[in-house]
Amino acid sequence: MRIAVVGTGYVGLVTGTCFADSGNTVTCVDVDLEKIEGLRDGIVPIYEPGLAELVKRNTAAGRLHFTTDLRDAVAASDLVYLAVGTPQSPSGAADLSALWSVVRQLGSCLPEAAIVVIKSTVPVATNAAVDAMLREITGRACDVASNPEFLKEGAAIEDFMKPDRVVVGVRRPHVADVLGELYSPFLRTEHPFLVMSPESAELTKYVANALLASKISFINEMANLCERMCGDINDVRRGIGHDRRIGFEFLFPGVGYGGSCFPKDIRALTAMARQHDVEPRMLQAIDAVNRHQKTVLMAKMQEHFGGQLAGKHVAVWGLAFKARTDDVREAPALALLDQLLEAGCRLTVFDPEAMDNARAVYGEQITYAARPIEALEGADALAIMTEWGDFRRPDFAAMKQSMTHPAIFDGRNLYDPHEMRRAGFIYYSIGRVTVRPDPAPEAARPMQDGQAL
Ligand SMILES: NC(=O)c1ccc[n+]([C@@H]2O[C@H](COP(=O)([O-])OP(=O)(O)OC[C@H]3O[C@@H](n4cnc5c(N)ncnc54)[C@H](O)[C@@H]3O)[C@@H](O)[C@H]2O)c1
Repeated sequence: MRIAVVGTGYVGLVTGTCFADSGNTVTCVDVDLEKIEGLRDGIVPIYEPGLAELVKRNTAAGRLHFTTDLRDAVAASDLVYLAVGTPQSPSGAADLSALWSVVRQLGSCLPEAAIVVIKSTVPVATNAAVDAMLREITGRACDVASNPEFLKEGAAIEDFMKPDRVVVGVRRPHVADVLGELYSPFLRTEHPFLVMSPESAELTKYVANALLASKISFINEMANLCERMCGDINDVRRGIGHDRRIGFEFLFPGVGYGGSCFPKDIRALTAMARQHDVEPRMLQAIDAVNRHQKTVLMAKMQEHFGGQLAGKHVAVWGLAFKARTDDVREAPALALLDQLLEAGCRLTVFDPEAMDNARAVYGEQITYAARPIEALEGADALAIMTEWGDFRRPDFAAMKQSMTHPAIFDGRNLYDPHEMRRAGFIYYSIGRVTVRPDPAPEAARPMQDGQAL
């Protein structure tokens, strides 16, 4: 099939590349000229494991093209995928201005038989509104389908190539048939192709994200409870996870969820609920717990330093909102950096992939280390904010030597508290007891006559 993908971000670039890899001819469109010129030169603007190789291979094979000319890309297309951003607007609802701008332009260049497919996460009834706008501009009926995306940044290629399920919202069986054929190479493992109304498809995406975010907020609140009650959230997690109704997935305590989806999607669903006179109590709680969780590490630091954080040198490992991505949008690390800067701390940071994105936000306000250990030189504390594999087995002795004061605030529970105590650290984590170094062993004294052992 000939496919135009409009919006060449995390979702659009992965979607276009994977469709090209399964034999389709794909043109990715974006308004960002620098991005498009870079892609034409083989420069992939985001970090996503496996993506650069796939872009290179499909570009070389002549199946993947990049342009800023929407009209040109759409002219010969069977399918036009819309994958532009739908960020949060000041009211909390989704901002659809990029989508409307594209739809207006499509009205004058959409081929008669082409199907428009909405891949962006959009509020319920957007499909119907796009349909109505195209009908008004073109003066004819157009097919508009909804095909929400469930990929995870950091595993986007794997998720797209082997999806748990594909959801399509259509108004005509013919459209489902076309999309079923497009997706058939990705569903060879018997994973389902689910056909429903556009409204149900639009809602499915929000409901999935709300449930996933609720698991994170739930376990975080339970972790905070564990701390107060001297429990260990890891043990509790083991204790509940074997119940098959609960399971282990997505129940890791931490410093709150971030990224470009969960925060904005929860708020957009909240706005939708209110528009329909439904009080979104659960959704508000998920968001409120998450906002609070982004402050817990700072509270531990404040307490540890007796409120005297000004002038302290804090090292921060991990800036991306999760491992295996360079995305720092709504990252808990950035919330912490803001709080530490506000408190007057001096900051040195390290992240394997997200340094450039952080630099775009903080410029020279903070110092960027070339290696994790370098960030620790003379540090009064280390905060760990992303669960990168690079941080899992560090040289604790070298770390302790580098730091002025051996305090670690681990927002991802990467280490065993007992090991940290033995290694000589004051170690704070999430939902577990705080440990302090073993006291120095008493000097051996000769035993006195009659002394009990
Ligand atoms: N990132 C994810 O993990 C993820 C997962 C599932 C769904 N989604 C949804 O997919 C959509 C895209 O998300 P993303 O993370 O890829 O966003 P992104 O910000 O990475 O990319 C959006 C792209 O659209 C381009 N764009 C904006 N206006 C345009 C226009 N008028 N014409 C052409 N291009 C235009 C931007 O320049 C940018 O390159 C959002 O609705 C998001 O909620 C994202």
